[in-house]
Amino acid sequence: MTRKKLFNSSTDHLTAERYGTAVPLGEPTFETQVTCQLLNRRSHRDFRNDRVCESTLTYLLACAQSAPSKSDLQQYSIIVVEEKELKAQISQLPGMDDWVDKAPHLLVFCADLRRGWRITESKGLVNENNTLDMLVNATGDAAIAMMSLIVAAESLGLGCCPISVVRNQIEQVSAWLKLPTGVYPFAGLGLGYPADEGKTTIRLPQSVVVHRNHYDDSHLLEQLHTYDDTRHGLTPIPTEKQLHPERYGIQPNLKWTDNVARRLSVRERRTFRAFLEQQNLALE
Ligand SMILES: Cc1cc2nc3c(=O)[nH]c(=O)nc-3n(C[C@H](O)[C@H](O)[C@H](O)COP(=O)(O)O)c2cc1C
Repeated sequence: MTRKKLFNSSTDHLTAERYGTAVPLGEPTFETQVTCQLLNRRSHRDFRNDRVCESTLTYLLACAQSAPSKSDLQQYSIIVVEEKELKAQISQLPGMDDWVDKAPHLLVFCADLRRGWRITESKGLVNENNTLDMLVNATGDAAIAMMSLIVAAESLGLGCCPISVVRNQIEQVSAWLKLPTGVYPFAGLGLGYPADEGKTTIRLPQSVVVHRNHYDDSHLLEQLHTYDDTRHGLTPIPTEKQLHPERYGIQPNLKWTDNVARRLSVRERRTFRAFLEQQNLALE
């Protein structure tokens, strides 16, 4: 099959931006609008005021639902938060950044085992799969549906940013959204027309993330050191983005791995398991 090359010079540039360093791709490299858009993807947290029209939103939601789904079970739900007050309540919760309130649209992607429970029950059968495995399936479904919507939205010139902070006060958010048992909010998504271009956040090199045949992290620390230096050279972490300064202080030249370690050293979302139990998602 002959593949049409839509762009001439952007792939080298876009992959270099993605990794902060040139990537030898070799020939032939086929570029499409989709590959270029994916390489150029970035989260947007600053939006114009104008809203997306209803038909565009419906179209984007159809794109979200076009994502693959484990066993075709379609175990997710998307809450489009339309009521201004409800959106304000959620976006003004402690821990939410200001941009969430300003984003014209807020969607909440939920893992949803409930629908399957109801289907099974309606057929007079007993659901034997209220399991952790099924929750992982449902969470995966919700995540890839969200990503499909992100890709579709970006292709229309829109911008998005996921919001896991909805899980910080998961009980409160779920009560406001009236999420029944069997459902939990995986992530919110702020959506709108971006106010600026945003910027690429560089990724770990493929030598760290991609393993050929067998997992091998024997050179991890040296590789991370190089990544830290590359990333710091391009986009140093601003002082206000240093995590947990109350515990660790402000450190000159704080690197990505320092912030990762800082984040992982402080327990987040302690109530999550209890919440899942409350939602009847206490899974074997
Ligand atoms: C599941 C998920 C949850 C996220 N939650 C938040 C969030 O609560 N707040 C936020 O500002 N960004 C959030 N993000 C965005 C990440 O911070 C962002 O993807 C990461 O910093 C890389 O930047 P990029 O998306 O521009 O490449 C989330 C991303 C994912 C995939």
